[in-house]
Amino acid sequence: MAEDLINNKDIYFPSYSGTNEKLITLLNRASQTLCEWFSKADKNGPLPFDESFKCIMPAEDGNPVEDLFSEIETLLNNSFNPVHPGSLAHLDPPPLIFSILGDLIAAGLNNNLLAYELSPSVTLLEESLCKWFAKKIGFNDFSGGIAASGGTLSNLNALIAARNNAGLGTNPNSVLLVSEDAHSSFVKCIRVMGLDTTNLVRIKTDNQGRMDINDLRKSLDKCSIENKKIFAIVATLGTTVRGAIDPIKEISEICKQRNIWLHIDGSIGGIFAITSIQIDGLNNINQANSVTINPQKIIGITKTSSLLLVSNMSSLEKTFSTGLPYITSKENIINRGEIGIQGSRPAEVIKLWLGLRFLGMKGIEEILKSSIKRKDFFINKICKNRFEIYSGPLHIISFLPKGLKEKDTDSWTQNKVNELMKKNFMLSRPKFKGKHYLRIVLGNYNTNESHIEELLKILDANQ
Ligand SMILES: Cc1ncc(COP(=O)(O)O)c(C=O)c1O
Repeated sequence: MAEDLINNKDIYFPSYSGTNEKLITLLNRASQTLCEWFSKADKNGPLPFDESFKCIMPAEDGNPVEDLFSEIETLLNNSFNPVHPGSLAHLDPPPLIFSILGDLIAAGLNNNLLAYELSPSVTLLEESLCKWFAKKIGFNDFSGGIAASGGTLSNLNALIAARNNAGLGTNPNSVLLVSEDAHSSFVKCIRVMGLDTTNLVRIKTDNQGRMDINDLRKSLDKCSIENKKIFAIVATLGTTVRGAIDPIKEISEICKQRNIWLHIDGSIGGIFAITSIQIDGLNNINQANSVTINPQKIIGITKTSSLLLVSNMSSLEKTFSTGLPYITSKENIINRGEIGIQGSRPAEVIKLWLGLRFLGMKGIEEILKSSIKRKDFFINKICKNRFEIYSGPLHIISFLPKGLKEKDTDSWTQNKVNELMKKNFMLSRPKFKGKHYLRIVLGNYNTNESHIEELLKILDANQ
C-alpha cells in the first residue's frame, strides 16, 4: 500500500472530485495509531521520554508512508500523555473526544479566521459562541469576544484594549496593577507592550492568596502621587499556584469609583462562571470590562482554546481595526482579524463548539464538579498535622511538610517529584516567593479516589 500511495502524486492534497480513498485510509490509520497510544498510557506512564529521541529532518526525497507512521509512533511514545490518571502536574487535562474530532475538521477545512470571506460559517460560529459565553457570564447585548491561542494572548488582547481605551497608547508612565500571585505572563505582556517591570505594580496577597484590598488602595494612592497612569487592574480568578480567587466585588467597586478598566484573568476558573456551580468568590464577574476564559485548561478542549470576552465589542474594534485592503469585506460583518492581535488564525472555535455541544451544560458541570470533588477528597485525606496546605476554592493544591526550611524546599520537592514519577504520578514543583512547593492539579477526569489514595501512600501523607 505504501508504495502505491507514494507513487501517486494526488496524495499531496485531497482530491476535489475523487473519492479520496487514500486519504481515508491514511486518516483511519492515524486514528488507529492515536487510539493505540491512548490505550498504552497505563503501561507507559504520563511522561515516557527517552533522551535518545531523534528528530529526523526532511530529506531530498519525501519519505515513504511506512517511515512516517513509524516516526509518528516514536513521537507519540515519547510524549507527555494527558490521559494517564497520574497526569496531575499542570492545567493540561485529557482531550475531549469531540474536541479531537473538531481539530481534525478544522485542519481539513483550513479556513482562516482572518476574514469572513475565508471562513464564512466559522466567523459566524466564533462570533455567536463568544456572545453566548459573554451572556452566560452576565454581560449585556454590547458584549462579545475573540478567540486566541492561549490565556497569555487573551490577556494581552485585553490589556492593549484597556490601554487604548484609557488613551495611554504610548505613555511610558502607564501602569498595570496585578496581585503578586498573578500569572508570570503579565511580565511578558508588559514587555510586549513596550513597558518594563516598573510599569507592573504588584499588589500583596492575603494568607489565602487573594489580592489584599488595603494594599490595592495604598498602591492606587501611591500611583496617583507619583503621577502614574493606571490603564487596568487585573483580578485573577484562579491563581496558578493555589487556585485562589481575588475579591472581585471589592476590586470592581474600586475600578468603578476610579474609572479604571477591570480585567479578570479567568484562565483557570472563568469557565465555572458559565455554570450554576457554587464557588466562593465567583460573583460580580459581569462588572469587569474584560474576562479571559481558557477552556483548554480544565474541561479538555484541545489546545489551544482561549476566549477574551469584553463587555463592549467596540473596545476591540477601536483598538485593533486597521482595515484589510486585500480582503473583500461584507457590510455588518466584522473580519475577525480586525479585533485582536492575531491575523491568520485557524478555526479553533470548532473544537470548542463541538466539545461543548457534545457535553451540554450537564456534562460541563459534571467535569468541573468532579475536579472539585477530587480536590476535596485529597484535602480530606492528606495528614493536616504534617502538611501545610495552600489551596482555594478551585482544584489546585500546593503543599509542603510543616516546618520545612525554605532552603530545603528545593531538594524535598525534587526528590518527591522523582519518587512519584517512578510510580507514574506526575506532579509539579512551582517556585513561588522563594520556596518550591509540591503542586497537584486535580482536573484529570481519569483520576479516581483510589489513585489519590495511592499517591498519598507513596508520599506517606495519609491522614
Ligand atoms: C492564571 C493564568 N493565567 C494565564 C495563564 C497563561 O495561559 P497560556 O499558557 O494558555 O498562555 C496561565 C497558565 O497556566 C494561568 O495559570
